[in-house]
Amino acid sequence: MGEKWDAHVTQVLYTQQQIQKRVAEMGVVLSTAYAGKNPLMVCVLKGACVFYTDLLRHCTIPLEMDFMRVSSYGDGTETSGTVQFLVPLSRAITGRHVLLVEDILDTGTTLHAVLPTLEAQKPASLAVCALLEKPARRRYPVPMACCGFSIPDVFVVGYGLDYAEQYRNLPYIGIYTPEKKDSEQCICVNP
Ligand code: PRP
Repeated sequence: MGEKWDAHVTQVLYTQQQIQKRVAEMGVVLSTAYAGKNPLMVCVLKGACVFYTDLLRHCTIPLEMDFMRVSSYGDGTETSGTVQFLVPLSRAITGRHVLLVEDILDTGTTLHAVLPTLEAQKPASLAVCALLEKPARRRYPVPMACCGFSIPDVFVVGYGLDYAEQYRNLPYIGIYTPEKKDSEQCICVNP
């Protein structure tokens, strides 16, 4: 028999319950900030998809959805530095209040490339909301309207985040390490 499929997820950083509590709080913040603005909430695929669908269900205001897909990590744990624009938004954003929803703001390379392309369309406002941010790795400053958790410099998977496209379906956020954990149980670092 092969190794357990999550054998490289050695620690739980945030449990499903902790994530849901924080996402609900973020929904309240965004509902207040965007009341009366009919914002366009943009999911940056693929990583943000799980967070996005949960977050929007905690937003209690009229809003619209759209999706874009960009990629820069490929199958590694380090950014390639080159952002590939794979799927554009479905319509123009001129005059709209746009909120980009990201799973993680790491080096800032992705948003540093994406934000100017959207600004060029002259939205009424353009802001970013990310579930996670990793301040220690930031290369480009990216202003954020709302952030869920600030995390240390570890490679995380789960709740939409991947390593080589795996682990997106874990309901929690865990630390991926090349070494396998030696017991069945993950250590929860944030009980
Ligand atoms: C991840 C994540 C962010 C970006 C953050 O995307 O979803 O978009 O990296 O990292 P950065 O701040 O260093 O640019 P990835 O390229 O892995 O594509 P994915 O969303 O399809 O997993």
